[in-house]
Amino acid sequence: MRKNDIKRIFSLMIALLILSSCDSMNQINDRGRINIQSLSDIDQAIQDMTLEEKAGQLIQAERSSISISDITKYNIGSILSGGGSTPNPNTPEAWVSMINQMNVAALQSSSGIPIIYGVDAVHGNNNVKNATIFPHNIGLGAANDPELMKAIGIATAKEMLAVGVDWNFAPAVSSAQDIRWGRTYESYSENIQRVASLVVPYIEGQLSEGILTTTKHFIGDGYTTFLTGEDDNLIDRGDVTMTKEQMLDGNLSAYIAAIGANTSAIMASFNSVNGVKVHGDKSLLTDLLRDELQFKGLVVSDWEAIHKIAPTLNEQVALAINSGVDLLMEPYKWKDTYNAIIYNVNNGNISQERLDEAVKRNLVLKFEAGLFEDGLLKEAGIVGTQESKKIAREAVSKSLVLLKNENILPLEKNVKIYLIGPASDNVGIQCGGWTFSWQGEMDPNLNNGISLKDALNTVLSSNGGELVSNPNDADLIVLAIGEKPYAEMHGDTDDLSLDGPLSLTDNIKAVELAQTFNKPILTIMIAGRPLLISDYLDHWDAFVMAWLPGTEGNGITDVLFGDKPFQGTLPFTWPLTNEQASDSMNMDNYNKIEHQFKYGDGLTY
Ligand code: GLC
Repeated sequence: MRKNDIKRIFSLMIALLILSSCDSMNQINDRGRINIQSLSDIDQAIQDMTLEEKAGQLIQAERSSISISDITKYNIGSILSGGGSTPNPNTPEAWVSMINQMNVAALQSSSGIPIIYGVDAVHGNNNVKNATIFPHNIGLGAANDPELMKAIGIATAKEMLAVGVDWNFAPAVSSAQDIRWGRTYESYSENIQRVASLVVPYIEGQLSEGILTTTKHFIGDGYTTFLTGEDDNLIDRGDVTMTKEQMLDGNLSAYIAAIGANTSAIMASFNSVNGVKVHGDKSLLTDLLRDELQFKGLVVSDWEAIHKIAPTLNEQVALAINSGVDLLMEPYKWKDTYNAIIYNVNNGNISQERLDEAVKRNLVLKFEAGLFEDGLLKEAGIVGTQESKKIAREAVSKSLVLLKNENILPLEKNVKIYLIGPASDNVGIQCGGWTFSWQGEMDPNLNNGISLKDALNTVLSSNGGELVSNPNDADLIVLAIGEKPYAEMHGDTDDLSLDGPLSLTDNIKAVELAQTFNKPILTIMIAGRPLLISDYLDHWDAFVMAWLPGTEGNGITDVLFGDKPFQGTLPFTWPLTNEQASDSMNMDNYNKIEHQFKYGDGLTY
């Protein structure tokens, strides 16, 4: 027998061994003591749990930092994927197998309580390869269509269930007040009423499919003042310096609406209010959220956010839990945090009553997710369905905002176009951050999505039109400019110009080149927020803001060629200068100031 044959048989044997072990690890064999069949069983279950079992339930660890055996040993309550943290291969089957193995391990813990798995499905189930990537929230704010939001909530839930995930750290109800903030595109609008009207149907859509929701970040995340950012951030995780009453006036209505829609959980916010970190502020996380707003669900901390609220981990854990945090998102220091909970309870720093209250909220959350029912183990489904793509395409069309049109749009389908600009043929740019990796990818073919160029080609090639290679042959120039992908603090900037640090490198070069052809120019911006265009707008015959449309670029051409109308309106003020970026924070002066465009602007046809 040849050497290669022996190697091939050996590899086959290894593969069979792994498959059989996976299969057995996907089977529920023995299980621990606690068995919850109804909500009324929970109080007794808590009485039957040990301090160690209770401590484990208040821990949420990152999938890459915990072993299957540790899930059993420490009675871990929850696991999350940080942005871009995926099994390999990144397929529904691999996700389901990973989560099933975790739950088989959890059931074999002394308590036998299953884990709940959470992800950031910010704009579709964006960690998963080939998942449908919807427009980011800022575009959905422009669409301003509650029915569409419910459909997106349902479609996103289906693509989460397809990979075995139960819990979404969404929706964000941030009402960004300074668009220099790196999380502006995760915000639906500067106007909290528009935010509230959109997140309720989204929550309803997710819950209707059995996905738990997390309204975030409570409270004041979009109200932090420029240059107060945490560590070296300009804005992100900074300090709200206006009065607490003013901040609450701009944020509370979205939380009241979300609580009314039975959002499953609320995530505490990194920011501080007048110098006090929210994660350590009982007046917000308990007095306001519990006593005034009557929120009954679970409060989860943000990613290691408690590390900033007190000197030592023991003190951080005690302060966070006593302030109102019920589950600690401790991706890496989960074991030290587990020990800190036990230390604090044994030393009376955390009362037994507060511990049991937090445990109960975790068990109720899992009950609501159906995790105590039989059939805990999941089966893989499919992502990137035609049904989802159809909804995403509609969302793209509705999100576009027409801001100038000198009789250019709608385009004829037999038109000859010379397409230029760094955002013309790149699905990664269209998706932006929180797409397969935390910061997003510049991958032009990301996820087999449809770029603007692909979409233009499809329409033109079947209607006698053409993307010409010589501008002299063109009827008009289409100029596509925008921003690089980014997320969170990495998107903070003090420069919103077209050649700012987060703008695409060749924006200005393309803008100046377009002006040399002496042809009509249609400019399309693909960015996570308004950028400064006052030096160029007069040279453009038409201007469309496309935000971060995601994988379904054909939603853009549906509108450009008149198959669908423009309906989008600006969810944010469009500044003329960097200094105007936070004008929405001061509405007293707002109407006395000339902006590039006002909140609510948008043409149609
Ligand atoms: C991040 C974000 C939060 C997200 C969490 C888990 O830092 O602040 O929105 O849900 O960590 O990824």
